[in-house]
Amino acid sequence: MMDHPQPRILMCPPDYFGIEYEINPWMHKEINADYTTARQQWRDLKALLESVGAAIELMDPVPGLPDLVFTANAALIWKDRAYLSRFRHGPRQGETPVNDAWFQANAFETRLPPEPWNFEGAGDALYCGETLFGGYIVRSDAHALQWLGKDLHCRVIPLQLVDERYYHLDTCFCPLSPTEALYYPAAFDAYGRSAIENAVPTLIPVGDDEATRFACNAVVVGKHVVMNSGCPQLEADLQAHGYQTHATPLDEFLKSGGSAKCLTLRLDGEEGAVWK
Ligand code: ARG
Repeated sequence: MMDHPQPRILMCPPDYFGIEYEINPWMHKEINADYTTARQQWRDLKALLESVGAAIELMDPVPGLPDLVFTANAALIWKDRAYLSRFRHGPRQGETPVNDAWFQANAFETRLPPEPWNFEGAGDALYCGETLFGGYIVRSDAHALQWLGKDLHCRVIPLQLVDERYYHLDTCFCPLSPTEALYYPAAFDAYGRSAIENAVPTLIPVGDDEATRFACNAVVVGKHVVMNSGCPQLEADLQAHGYQTHATPLDEFLKSGGSAKCLTLRLDGEEGAVWK
């Protein structure tokens, strides 16, 4: 018998994944992902998440939508509501109707921030406690984050992302629990850093080298943290804070500017989230 409901995570197989356009500094069309390796890395990530207790739900891949694999960008989840993304860049805009259909078919009510504002789902909106932290300017608009705060009746802390390499909030900030988070300080301006430092009691900073290995783009399942390989310092720091770490190579997805967290969407609420 389980005390808690099983954590639910949405993933999308990388059947049509590839580097077909360039919308962030990591993507180079001439350095495409290796299809076989990408599939293996994705399968290993899925198996690892299952081994720490998650139930994986799947969205069907769609030809012509190579980034659909990054389900973190499908929506921000709040209870049975999915706040869909309105993507900044044309090549990803075709994902929204696909995501909308999946959520509706799976008993979520879908909402979209008002036009013309862009918003990229859990890539840019992460709860830590009752506060929604939002990344803006590169992909999501601050107005969309403010609208979300009103619709969700929660405090929003908008954080401007100042380094194009860390274009989504989930590449530089990762709540571990309602009071703990990982962050890469240099991805924020002085205001953003102090806003995070004042709001989150326990912070684990990530260094430059491991930030470029997407250390902050980790998936938290209970006291387990699943992340890209090559982040030994972060693993040691997390272990010192009582977490069990699990590393798996995700280099093929780094070529697209994504890693473990981007490839997942927690459907039942992230560990850090406290919903009112
Ligand atoms: N190539 C994708 C993009 O640039 C990667 C998305 C990564 N997702 C994330 N949640 N950080 O949009």
